[in-house]
Order: sequence, then structure tokens, then C-alpha cells
Amino acid sequence: MYLSINNLCFSYPSAKTETIQSFTIAIEKGEVISILGRSGSGKSTILRILAGLEYASSGSFHVQDEVIFDSKTFIQPEKRGIGMVFQDYALFPHMTVGKNILFGISHLPKGERRKRLKEALELVEMEDYENRYPYQLSGGQQQRIAIARALAPNPRLLLLDEPFSNLDTELQVKIRKELRDILKRAKITSIFVTHDEDDAHAIADRIVKLNHGKIEQMGRPCDILKEETKMVLS
Ligand SMILES: Nc1ncnc2c1ncn2[C@@H]1O[C@H](COP(=O)(O)OP(=O)(O)OP(=O)(O)O)[C@@H](O)[C@H]1O
Ligand SMILES: [Mg+2]
Repeated sequence: MYLSINNLCFSYPSAKTETIQSFTIAIEKGEVISILGRSGSGKSTILRILAGLEYASSGSFHVQDEVIFDSKTFIQPEKRGIGMVFQDYALFPHMTVGKNILFGISHLPKGERRKRLKEALELVEMEDYENRYPYQLSGGQQQRIAIARALAPNPRLLLLDEPFSNLDTELQVKIRKELRDILKRAKITSIFVTHDEDDAHAIADRIVKLNHGKIEQMGRPCDILKEETKMVLS
């Protein structure tokens, strides 16, 4: 398997119960996984642990047979080859779109940097926006730039935290399909978290339902009933 997360457990110091309980999943290369759960269920915490911003109390995480962490190993966040798109996109406001994207690939030779910048902008269909500043973009365009910035260093895994939370409903519906197309075009293995089951059903190859830090159900979108369907059936 391309990526495996085994028995991940975690508690914040003040927590009364375990924040994440034995989270386990194996993911194939190129698969798009959605972690779906209510506010406070632990979705962002899981992404933070995978990105290396928190230490799991136990469990392990492997990508392509390399140990990212286990009881003996902890690879530093910047060495993991993991891209992250935050809830508020976190673009640098004083930098143009181009500079935002180049930021994460400054270690590469100049020619290679230009090539990656061009590819990343093409992938999100924003080639003409290189010299704009974030405030000159719509919410949906900022989101696409945040994705381009995360993809430019060629990560092995992309994590997206509630990518639609800042968008109005109409834009959200349009961008859902775009996001799936971008991820599939980039052939990037991704995990995105959301509280919106329509997002999860429209974008993911597989959905993991999280309830109070525990996996409640896991399966393809067609195997996971939406709450509204459950109500109609009951
Ligand atoms: N830094 C922290 N210190 C202590 N507890 C925290 C901290 N961050 C989150 N928590 C708690 O851990 C639990 C999981 O939080 P988390 O942010 O992972 O939820 P979430 O599913 O991402 O929610 P949301 O949909 O609102 O973003 C919550 O009960 C939250 O209050
Ligand atoms: Mg969250």
C-alpha cells in the first residue's frame, strides 16, 4: 500500500477523553480520501499529526514504506514531502501569486522553479494571474492558488483542511467539481477534511466518517448513506 496510518492515538493535555482513538487507514497512490465529521470530531487534529505539527501518543505512519513516525522515529515536518492547504488558505498577502507559489521551491535552480510555477498555475487554470496579489482574487481563486502553492514542491501527499469553508454556497458547488478535477489531473494522493457530506460525496474516492475521534464508518461514497437519505428511509 502507498500510505498507511496505523492505530494513531492522540490527546490534547486538557482533554478528558482521547481526542483521536486508534485511527487506521491504508491509502492507494492517487486516491482522494475525505474525513467527514462534525465540528470538534478531531479532523484537523489528524491532519496536524500527519503533517508533523503534533506528536501522536502512539501509532505509526508510513509513506512508500518509509517510516514518517512510529515509536522510534519522527521525521521533521519539512522533510515529509507533505503539502498542506489550510482552512483560511494562508496566502502571504504582501506577495504576488507567483511569489507565493515560488516560496516553497526557492531551493530549486531558477529554470526548474519557473517550470514548476508554470505547471502549478496551469494545473489550477490560473496562468494569467501570476502578478496579482491575493486581495485582487476571489475566494475561489485564492483557494486554487493555495492548492497550486502546496502542489508546486511535488508533495507525496496533499492535506486539505475544510477547503470550502470560506466560500458561499454557489461557489462551493462549482468548486467541488474543480477540486476533484485538479486532484485527479495532478494524480496526487490527498486527504481532505470536511463537515459537509455533499463535499465528501462529490470529491472523494473513499469517505471516512469520524465521530468523537473514532472511525464510525469507511467506504466508497455510494456505500455511505447521507443523513438526509437516512431520514427519508427511517
Ligand atoms: N490546541 C488545543 N488544545 C486543546 N484542545 C484542543 C486543541 N485543538 C483542538 N482541541 C480539541 O480537540 C478536539 C478536536 O479538535 P479539532 O480541531 O481536531 O476538530 P475538527 O473536527 O477539526 O473541528 P472543526 O470542524 O470545528 O474544525 C475538540 O474537542 C477541540 O476542542
Ligand atoms: Mg478543523
